[in-house]
Amino acid sequence: MTASSIAPARPHWSSRLMFVFAASGSAVGLGNIWKFPYIVGENGGGAFVLLYLACLIGLGAPLLIGEVFVGRKGGEFPASAFLRVAREKAMSRLWGGLGALGAIIALMILAFYSVVSGWVGIYTVDFAQAVLGGDAARSGADAFSAMLADPTLQLSAVTAIVVTAGLVIYYDVTGGIQSVMRYVAPLFVVLLVAMLVMVAATTGKLGEAFTYMFQPDFSALSVDAFGEALGHAFFTLSVGMCGMLIYGAYLDDEANIPRLGISVALLDTAIAIAAALIIFPIVFAFNLESNGGPGLLFIALPQGFTLLPNGDLFGLGFFTATLLAAFSSLIALMIIARHWLEETLNVSGSSATLMAAGATWIGGAAVTLSMTVWDSISILGLSLFDFLDQATSSWLLPISGLGMAIFVSRAIVPDMPEGPVKIYLRAGLTYIAPLGIVVLIWSKAVGF
Ligand code: PFF
Repeated sequence: MTASSIAPARPHWSSRLMFVFAASGSAVGLGNIWKFPYIVGENGGGAFVLLYLACLIGLGAPLLIGEVFVGRKGGEFPASAFLRVAREKAMSRLWGGLGALGAIIALMILAFYSVVSGWVGIYTVDFAQAVLGGDAARSGADAFSAMLADPTLQLSAVTAIVVTAGLVIYYDVTGGIQSVMRYVAPLFVVLLVAMLVMVAATTGKLGEAFTYMFQPDFSALSVDAFGEALGHAFFTLSVGMCGMLIYGAYLDDEANIPRLGISVALLDTAIAIAAALIIFPIVFAFNLESNGGPGLLFIALPQGFTLLPNGDLFGLGFFTATLLAAFSSLIALMIIARHWLEETLNVSGSSATLMAAGATWIGGAAVTLSMTVWDSISILGLSLFDFLDQATSSWLLPISGLGMAIFVSRAIVPDMPEGPVKIYLRAGLTYIAPLGIVVLIWSKAVGF
């Protein structure tokens, strides 16, 4: 990373825009393109979108802003950052545990994130081959199941992605992120907008998708939908796992964190909605299942692409954009793990990078094998994949989010200048987040 002239002692982003690019590179990922559309489909559309937006505004964005503040004050090492800020405020050392919890959640997410990124890689290569005149790209449920049943193919994809991500990080963390994001972010947005326009023009179903996404039908909502919306608000903004803290560490003291944070949250939300507005017109045009769950992206969408004129090109564009988004998020997650291993084990950055990449690969390999050769093994009745997904999104992220909300509302918010931003953060972090998360955890534990 380039050292800024503002504070030579600490590296800084070369520009504020670079912060927004890098933080969005972390935030925009499989959560936006793979998960958001399928949970909207599973929860009946508009009412869920509204609930999700409320969670983003009420809890997600305030937490994002809070995490960035902690990073700027405490530095780029998760546990030390919380410790340093806590010490300054004469708060307990135990708050350092939030950094460790965040990093452990990141490692758990990495195990399945690397696998789904691998699937995206496999589909991207498939569509590229189809465009170049090779075999037709895989499409439909059978092709997806065949891929899931092939450990060698999945392991190769996980290995390729994890090794590439490890190399990017190994050769200078933030410099790596900046140079990757400088090209990836604009390319991604161009691809996505092009896809949106082409899909709208070819299917003629954009209006229907709009109605589905924005006309609330509250009868389709369940209590579980609240948990899903809340957990996903954290996941998509990379908060609750120190994803944003690290980027805050490289911000200069003059940067307007609330404004930058809101920009990242808006961009992330716009991209999730754009992805859904690409997927649902295809689903409606070809009468595919909108509630197809995690397979929506890999089963329904390629089926739609094969029915569209120039479908292979659509497929290649879409899966390339998704791969870019997944890759930059994977790097961001691995950087959290690297920093935490570095501070905890007191090893060099390069060793910590190797360890983070190794841990990701082992996790990814275990998830892959648990779907194939070890498929008889289950944890609490769930596959390893579902266990990691549910444990992080439904339990650990809300718990660490609650801790961070309490911490930021005590350690950061009181020092902020009076005004609407302080009122917003106080409302979100002191009242809405704790109340929402406690109700969520209670409803899950007791069930109502
Ligand atoms: N926000 C990413 C997504 O929506 O796919 C996931 C993620 C990336 C979480 C990086 C945390 C993180 F640090």
